[in-house]
Amino acid sequence: MKNQRLEEQRLKFKIPIYISQNVIEKIDLKYLRKLVDDDKSEFYISCFSVEKLYTKYKKKINDLIKKGKIKLINPPTEYIVAQIEQNEKPEIAAENFFKLRYEDGIIINKEKIINKEKIKEKEKEKRKKEGRKKNIWVILKEIVSESVKEFQEKRKTKKIEMLDLKRFHNLIYDELELEIKKWLCDTNYILGQRVDDFEKELANYLGVKHCIGVASGTDALVLALRAMAIKMGKEFFSHEDKIITTPLTFTATAIAIIRAGATPVFVDIDPKTFNISPEKIEEYLHKDPKGVIGIIPVHIYGLPCDMNSIMEIAKKYNLFVIEDTSQALGAEIEGKKVGTIGNIGCHSFYPSKNLGGLGDGGAISTNDDEIAEIVRRLRECGGKSRFIPENIGYNSRLDAVQATLLKVKLKYVDKLIELKNKIAQKYKEGLKDLEHELELPYIPDGMKHSFHQYTIKVKRGEEVRQRLKEFLEKRGIGNFIYYPVFLHKIQLFLKLGAQIGGSLENSEDISKKILSIPIDPLLTDEEVSRVINVIKEFFSSTPTQS
Ligand SMILES: Cc1ncc(COP(=O)(O)O)c(C=O)c1O
Repeated sequence: MKNQRLEEQRLKFKIPIYISQNVIEKIDLKYLRKLVDDDKSEFYISCFSVEKLYTKYKKKINDLIKKGKIKLINPPTEYIVAQIEQNEKPEIAAENFFKLRYEDGIIINKEKIINKEKIKEKEKEKRKKEGRKKNIWVILKEIVSESVKEFQEKRKTKKIEMLDLKRFHNLIYDELELEIKKWLCDTNYILGQRVDDFEKELANYLGVKHCIGVASGTDALVLALRAMAIKMGKEFFSHEDKIITTPLTFTATAIAIIRAGATPVFVDIDPKTFNISPEKIEEYLHKDPKGVIGIIPVHIYGLPCDMNSIMEIAKKYNLFVIEDTSQALGAEIEGKKVGTIGNIGCHSFYPSKNLGGLGDGGAISTNDDEIAEIVRRLRECGGKSRFIPENIGYNSRLDAVQATLLKVKLKYVDKLIELKNKIAQKYKEGLKDLEHELELPYIPDGMKHSFHQYTIKVKRGEEVRQRLKEFLEKRGIGNFIYYPVFLHKIQLFLKLGAQIGGSLENSEDISKKILSIPIDPLLTDEEVSRVINVIKEFFSSTPTQS
């Protein structure tokens, strides 16, 4: 319980405040303790300051550092040297490095204290009587409180991004930095222990036998499809091989089908979940099952597809199922993680994903030993030996540095999903009076949404959606249409033979109405309220026409 509270405190956006050495040195320990005992802010000092403080307080500040009350800004030596060459002091180098991490963070240095002292000229006499140390403390306290207010004021108009990766990465900065340094030093850059360890941890997290790291989510899909083809006795699929998928997905899903040699067939989505509709799949298969070999359901925006129905259909028609889990790592159906239900799960570690790397990356998950073995081959040019390919493979390995960073970030996935679900709950409560205007994400019983995106449906359609979009932009609220063109409308795919499996009326309708709004797990309560209020304001000034 205590740990959970600590973790909750840790995964919370806090106002970053840097206190320079010549200020911090002058504060008494008891005042320093008071200053940093603040849940809303996090305090940084430089590694140079910590040395001075150790000497001054005889290691008594250890506990403040261990509890994360004081954090260290530790610029790389090269950075300090470069700054010294530009006639900056090492301490200023630390300050500049802090600015690199937090553009709008608060810096409290000697200049600020002097300025404040000037402003408070009148009180100088009084301060002299109270003694210099107390004096600095009083001034510092005032500066901190004024700077925090100023910071909060600025935040009220600062753009709320769809996702601000810096927030989360700054919270786990030290862990990431350590892993990068270790990786840099030991030169194990291709596969090896780091990739093995991450694959094991991911398999354990998902509850699946094998995970295999590859270069991207797109490659995960291509390699999964190729592995299926190889298992079925073909090197590549042929044009006659049809694979059913949804038109509401990123282009990579269809691109992968075509790259594996097969033909995508777009089947309509469910109007409530926006995921591929099992009824429509069945309808299509009932009429025209010829050539269909598999289904790729995509858990769009992080909501699981109706996998129970999809697996039943697959069994009935003898089809394979490859789950495109790119947007939904961590989502569950009755406690079972998506990506473990079909024959293969495909995951993307694109930086904005639920588990995002610091670059590209992907993985496949499967309980099928043969598929796992083929994918391992395919990612390394197609052979167990690098020099004798058994299949036409790819150079598609997960980078060791990505694997090691993903392993750090995996520990936080569930907590971040929980935070996103809390934000979704706040949106639901805050927007409940707009039921006649908006449809909010629907979560069927037994499913856990992972909210890669929070996507609303503007009931009045395209024109009002466009106006809402512009209104949000003007008010500094990030938003995006995922996706501006559904795949059945992409000429390239049609030219290459992609087919349309029945009426796509739900897709047509939904494509004109969807809009995603920010769901960064570290949004503050104030930011969530701001999003809600701006949406409400828009609709109160856009009355429904009868
Ligand atoms: C549904 C879906 N499939 C596939 C991909 C491709 O993943 P990547 O960008 O890692 O290649 C993405 C990522 O954007 C996606 O959202």
